[in-house]
Amino acid sequence: MRVAGIDYRTVWMEGGTVRMIDQPLLPHRFAVRDCADHRETAAAIRDMVTRGAGAIGVAAGYAVAQAALEAPAGGLDGYVAEAAGLVRATRPTAQNLFYCVDRVLGALRRAGTEDASRLAAVAEAEALAAEDVSAARRIGELGAALLRDGTRVLTHCNAGWLAFADWGTALAPIYAASRQGRRVFVWVDETRPRLQGACLTAWELGQERIEHALIADNAAGHFMQRGEVDLVIVGSDRIARNGDVANKIGTYEKAVCARDNGIPFYVAAPTSTIDWGCASGAQIPIEERSPDEVLRVRGRDGAGAPVEAFIAPSGTSARNPAFDVTPARLVTGIITERGIVSPARLGDLRRP
Ligand code: MRU
Repeated sequence: MRVAGIDYRTVWMEGGTVRMIDQPLLPHRFAVRDCADHRETAAAIRDMVTRGAGAIGVAAGYAVAQAALEAPAGGLDGYVAEAAGLVRATRPTAQNLFYCVDRVLGALRRAGTEDASRLAAVAEAEALAAEDVSAARRIGELGAALLRDGTRVLTHCNAGWLAFADWGTALAPIYAASRQGRRVFVWVDETRPRLQGACLTAWELGQERIEHALIADNAAGHFMQRGEVDLVIVGSDRIARNGDVANKIGTYEKAVCARDNGIPFYVAAPTSTIDWGCASGAQIPIEERSPDEVLRVRGRDGAGAPVEAFIAPSGTSARNPAFDVTPARLVTGIITERGIVSPARLGDLRRP
């Protein structure tokens, strides 16, 4: 991604430091946060300094690599195992996190000596980041075929550059189509409670000069009913092997409205998001976050200073599931780096 003329990935590693775009500051301020050790990187994942399934995965891989670099001589295995446990406990839903931790641990195990293990861990974490970028780019190329000149796409949450190392998934086809010269319009759901649509997707689309309008989450059905949405594309945090899809809370409602209005509903995700061990969406762990996120709204005042406002009577109780599951029957197709498949044919993507 290019910000003010400079190319960035969302998360990257320099020496033993993991660097990431500080997402809670967006769209008001662009800054990079440095995580000096695996504990800081794990905390940054937990606190959503970096977020989005792909970016979480890449950061998690780097955190385990950091632990390998930090580990005392003679104590690498125990140190890294403890670090991997810490990273795994940060966020429960994004499959990419577990996929990346396991891949780096596998590389460590195969390496033999401690010195070789340290090098192998960093190399594997870098390979994961590169795979994330190339899968997202391919998703963009394949998904762009679904977009004609003038297509009006609705998206939910942020599955763009900021949710991956680069390019994104749901937004990648839009970026690719736009670079091929087609005009695409995007309806951006604000995505309560953390407002990833308003803060991140709207910011990204602005950087890419793609025409868009921000809407309240509960306006999506209205625009679908009025014939103003041609296609829905969302990302995913975990896909069960029967094609059920976990994504940001509110996605299921968009899928129901899309079906009621005969609008195609696509999910864009790399194959690393598929949890082959998970039979159906009922088994996908759904993160429950602090009720605080529902009870207050955070933003900036006219002078750019952070402000927050309580929006419910004091003492109101709230629930805050971060994801929901869209049943496979409501999904038209899953756009992966290996092709666009119907949920019923997901098994075709399984490597022998
Ligand atoms: O809670 P977040 O912001 O980490 O949520 C993840 C997401 O960004 C979405 O669910 C997204 O649509 C899919 S992840 C690329």
